[in-house]
Amino acid sequence: MTTKREKFGGRMAVILAMAGSAIGLGNIWRFPYMVGEHGGAAFVIVYVVATLLISLPVFLAEVMIGRRSHTNSRDAFARLSRQHPFWKWAGYLTILIPTLIACYYSVIGGWSVEYFLKSCSLSFVRMSPEEASGFFGPFAASPWTPVIMHLIFLGITVAVVAGGVKSGIEKFSKISLPVLFVLILMILTYSVSLPGAGEGVRYLLHPDWNELTPRTFAYAMGQSFYSLSLGMGAIITYGSYVSKKENILTTSAGTAVSDLLFAILAGFAIMPAVFAAGIEPGAGPGLIFQSIPYVFAKMGAGMPVLSAAVSILFFLAIIVAAMTSCISLVEVGVSFLMERSRMSRGRACLILFLLCGGLGVLCSLSFGPLADAKVAGMTIFDLFDWTCSNILLLLMALLAVVFVGWILPRRVVHDEFTNGGRLAFNERLFPAVYFLIKWVAPIAVVVIFFTNFIL
Ligand code: PHE
Repeated sequence: MTTKREKFGGRMAVILAMAGSAIGLGNIWRFPYMVGEHGGAAFVIVYVVATLLISLPVFLAEVMIGRRSHTNSRDAFARLSRQHPFWKWAGYLTILIPTLIACYYSVIGGWSVEYFLKSCSLSFVRMSPEEASGFFGPFAASPWTPVIMHLIFLGITVAVVAGGVKSGIEKFSKISLPVLFVLILMILTYSVSLPGAGEGVRYLLHPDWNELTPRTFAYAMGQSFYSLSLGMGAIITYGSYVSKKENILTTSAGTAVSDLLFAILAGFAIMPAVFAAGIEPGAGPGLIFQSIPYVFAKMGAGMPVLSAAVSILFFLAIIVAAMTSCISLVEVGVSFLMERSRMSRGRACLILFLLCGGLGVLCSLSFGPLADAKVAGMTIFDLFDWTCSNILLLLMALLAVVFVGWILPRRVVHDEFTNGGRLAFNERLFPAVYFLIKWVAPIAVVVIFFTNFIL
């Protein structure tokens, strides 16, 4: 993967690689239900501001750590801090987090596989819209199918990782992002034209400031980090592939803006359908699996062929987007095991499959047989997601900005940001960006981190 990306070189290749990691289930599946659970437009506004003022500086910090150290995420901190014990330890977090996320990420991947198969057998087109959106509840709660689908999704992901990331998948993912984009636009156009959809558009555009609680900030920030693949080693690793000639501001901003656009588009494709279908916007993780089939079933009444084709392509594109992201999640643990214990790639993959597969089964069952098994009021699935997105990601992102703002010498940061003073625009922006990295981002993350516990 590395050599290929390096060979392509150039700004577009870097942006595409980073956007490929960033754009995934976080944008299509997670963002819309977070919006629904945490106050609609108010959440969206906080999300946009947080992305530009906090996540972008964190993103820059991670790219700098990667590019400067030119090594994997675990060793990057150690190398740049000259083997300081604390930072060596911090590097381990970048292995733990993606592995934990892979456990439940692949459960959602499994749901997409089931929905893809259902689309292929023309099930949604034949159902009434109400049946199509009602399919999700009993499906997710059933003990077998979701578990099997989760294992199938994870199995394919791990198999790809085991064989090395083949160029086929790389090429496929390059096509799948534009395809997904076009399909989302199509669904958006249809979805806003549904009767009752206006309410959904209004929900996204008119903030109700009463809905804005300290928790909104915490969740918006967690979502923004999650969506940009921050705080889990992925961007540090990609950063290590970025050439010294590249302008990291353009590539980082390009990635952040495309990720943001994708999330907002997904919001506008899904929320109107949610309202048109009469689904509760705060319905949680099942939101897109309830609202999108409703759209397809409704569309199917008038245009069955088009609806069937779009639904098949849509779920396929989601699977591919999710799989390319999940591959990079699993790859982090695999490469770590291989380097640390000189294990073969195959064996490392098997271990990850068993570990993530096993824990993922618990996450999957928490929608059905284990729904009552709760820790601190959360189901196992929610516990995994909450711990990763609202605790571990924030912690890791904090470590990254503190590292760049306080541990790395200012001249090194300046050198990375301006390519040794050669980029005039970056030169002018440097004091502001450095201030954001050194002060604003760490303080914001700490405040938000504690909000999670206090409120
Ligand atoms: N950012 C991805 C998403 O939005 C999740 C992810 C994080 C994938 C880190 C890979 C690495 O779905």
